[in-house]
Amino acid sequence: MMQDEWTEKYRPKSLSQIIGNEAAANAMRRWGESWKSGVPRIKALTLQGEPGTGKTSAALALASDMGWDAIEMNASDHRNAASIKKVAGLGSAGQTFSPTGEFLSSNQGHRKLVILDEADNLFGREDYGGAKAIVETIRESGQPIILIVNDYYELTRKASAVKTLTEKITFRSLEQRSVVKALASIAHQEHVTISEDILDQIAKNSGGDMRAAVNDLQMMVEGKMVIGAEDALAMGKRNQKKELDESLRAMFGAGTAREARDATLDLDETPDDLEKWIEEAIPPEMPHPEDMAEAFDALSRSDIYLGRTRRHQYYGFWSYAKELMTGGVALSRRHGPRPNVYNYRFPGYFILLSRSKGPRAARESITSKMVEFLHTSKREMNESMLPYLSILAKNDSQLLVKLSRDLAFDEGDIAFLLGEEPDSDRVQMIVSQVQGDETSKPNAKGDAGPSRRRGGLGEF
Ligand SMILES: Nc1ncnc2c1ncn2[C@@H]1O[C@H](COP(=O)(O)OP(=O)(O)OP(=O)(O)O)[C@@H](O)[C@H]1O
Ligand SMILES: [Mg+2]
Repeated sequence: MMQDEWTEKYRPKSLSQIIGNEAAANAMRRWGESWKSGVPRIKALTLQGEPGTGKTSAALALASDMGWDAIEMNASDHRNAASIKKVAGLGSAGQTFSPTGEFLSSNQGHRKLVILDEADNLFGREDYGGAKAIVETIRESGQPIILIVNDYYELTRKASAVKTLTEKITFRSLEQRSVVKALASIAHQEHVTISEDILDQIAKNSGGDMRAAVNDLQMMVEGKMVIGAEDALAMGKRNQKKELDESLRAMFGAGTAREARDATLDLDETPDDLEKWIEEAIPPEMPHPEDMAEAFDALSRSDIYLGRTRRHQYYGFWSYAKELMTGGVALSRRHGPRPNVYNYRFPGYFILLSRSKGPRAARESITSKMVEFLHTSKREMNESMLPYLSILAKNDSQLLVKLSRDLAFDEGDIAFLLGEEPDSDRVQMIVSQVQGDETSKPNAKGDAGPSRRRGGLGEF
């Protein structure tokens, strides 16, 4: 199924195909060359930058350009700690593994590039042990290593030696015109014609995240985003749509989690797409605010697993995601009667574009504000706090107003927490209350010093 994903199909195979970020690609190439005459002084790189800008692709492309094998590991999974050391450490003795795991002496063996993804996430928030293991691995390694981080500071805070042991390479968000060019090239290869205007909009909406842009393009081309009357679903799609309507109707009417899951089992939709259909169906299906809040809570948990699947290509997470988005959502209904919904819809393309922030961007924005405030890790915040924060916000406007003031939540953040559009009445009401409070008490922010703000959080 992954082969159907354009992000995989069009993943750069060589550093020369990495779009934008030329300086980064050149620096990686130079470092690669430095391994040709033995183990160089700098044995590891740290790639740092925003999601979807080509870090993982560039690391894999470098390995392919150099004729190296590549091993990708997720540093945040502690089960990998031992194997990371084993793979990197053995190379120092002049040996390495073949891809199937046999030993090869260094003259017949290739170099093996160890790619440590999420090296800033390690094994929990304060895992200095994990950080130390990474540092030791680099020191002992006879093999090239690439660390990948979103947050360089987070890694060096735990392992300051990384600053001197590795060369830091930054990946920047792509420029809109680079994204447009890449999208145009993909569209050409797929034999589809799309106006420059729409490509511009997709690129703009992606905020320089190429993965997001390519995914949007694919969704649009596959007719899952509505772009206008003349592009109404074609005949083949119509049958699929009927099947989808029936499955969703059965899922939302299910009495048990299993029934809900089984209702969508035969659908020919990726979990990512199914999630979007379900997201769009929750408000009409679950008009009661408490039910809706709970359903969105289940969906946001499912989204976390989907995100992990996307990032790590680890499909084991899919089943959790599906349980949550089907059973978790369906069983959220506690208040009847069930409305008659017969025609489900996929979020329209222009509806998506008109949102001031996509749900993921908004969640990211809220998370980073909360992380700073609570001194907790992003992961912990996403996993355990955000869903509750959302429930609290939906049930207590005053709390939401207070939080928004303390943490400078904007319209998009508030909309996300409430599960509504930024221009909805409820969001606008909260926004005006937040602003009202600010103007009537010009010193409100200054008064609320760090200790008081902490105290305030104790209330929930
Ligand atoms: N600079 C780029 N040039 C060409 N394609 C890109 C580039 N960046 C991203 N892509 C596309 O987006 C997909 C995801 O990119 P990649 O996995 O390399 O991003 P990343 O920086 O590792 O993101 P994350 O931080 O989320 O892991 C690629 O498979 C490719 O299709
Ligand atoms: Mg990556």
